[in-house]
Amino acid sequence: MDIAGKIAVVTGGASGIGLGIIRALADAGVGAVVIADVDAEKAAQTARSFSESGLRAFSHGCDVSSEDALERLADFAWSQAGPVDILFNNAGVTAPGNPLAATEADTRWEFDVNMFGVIHGTRVFARRFIADGKRGWICSTASHNGLGAPYPDVAGYVATKHGVIGYAAALRQQFGDKLGFSVLCPGPVNTGVWDAGRARPDRFGGPYSGATANRDYLTTHGMSPDEVGRMTVAGVAAEEFYIFTHPEDIALVHDRYTEARAAVARQFPAYGLPA
Ligand SMILES: NC(=O)c1ccc[n+]([C@@H]2O[C@H](COP(=O)([O-])OP(=O)(O)OC[C@H]3O[C@@H](n4cnc5c(N)ncnc54)[C@H](O)[C@@H]3O)[C@@H](O)[C@H]2O)c1
Repeated sequence: MDIAGKIAVVTGGASGIGLGIIRALADAGVGAVVIADVDAEKAAQTARSFSESGLRAFSHGCDVSSEDALERLADFAWSQAGPVDILFNNAGVTAPGNPLAATEADTRWEFDVNMFGVIHGTRVFARRFIADGKRGWICSTASHNGLGAPYPDVAGYVATKHGVIGYAAALRQQFGDKLGFSVLCPGPVNTGVWDAGRARPDRFGGPYSGATANRDYLTTHGMSPDEVGRMTVAGVAAEEFYIFTHPEDIALVHDRYTEARAAVARQFPAYGLPA
């Protein structure tokens, strides 16, 4: 797909990976971008600074955990920016901690934003793409935590990111002849996600400060969000389903396959597994 001239919407676009995606879209000659974020003020500042550099950029306050909010975002995007071609379902949060000590609210927050945010965005935009008769593209930000479980204390997050990949795979299976789908599966990226709790709504337990150990890990080991943005836009342009940022993450898929294969060999010794 040629990104030049396309109209894109990026949720969680006011910072981190979303911002990196918007920079890469601008470099690829995108026609217009709608920056959607629960932090409406930051989204507006971001759109202003892109507008000053010549990009058609719009901002819209949007909490992706609400399907109505996604409908309003789509109304805004189609009426202000024009018929949308690409949705980046990128907004996400994490509430790390011992999963056995996590409250229901901790885990529901992760599911409402990471999982339902992607479901709402996909459903609302896919319906409009099909109504427009266009092969729109939906790129959802998962994680390498959607391919395996490499770290302790992020079980709820891992479950949501597996869900993001599963949902996109199911939609591709059913609607792949009409629409395009990608899942971005980044390894560690140097963003503010470690402090996502600063903006946690009261209904999910209210704000809290993230662990600085997580910040230090991402600062030391995280890839630059601009680099991730370039990989993401290149992956969508190449119409890839899986978009990796860290090639070593293929080991997560390999380990899972190896374990499952060994289980089949034990449970069905007479079944002729392919070499
Ligand atoms: N940073 C990493 O190491 C990493 C790795 C893999 C995947 N991810 C995923 O990348 C995506 C972006 O995260 P990031 O690392 O750039 O973090 P970030 O905190 O820098 O950016 C996330 C953005 O999403 C916005 N947001 C939060 N809740 C929202 C909601 N309910 N509705 C709309 N916007 C909301 C935030 O205001 C923020 O601007 C997330 O889905 C995250 O899970 C991050």
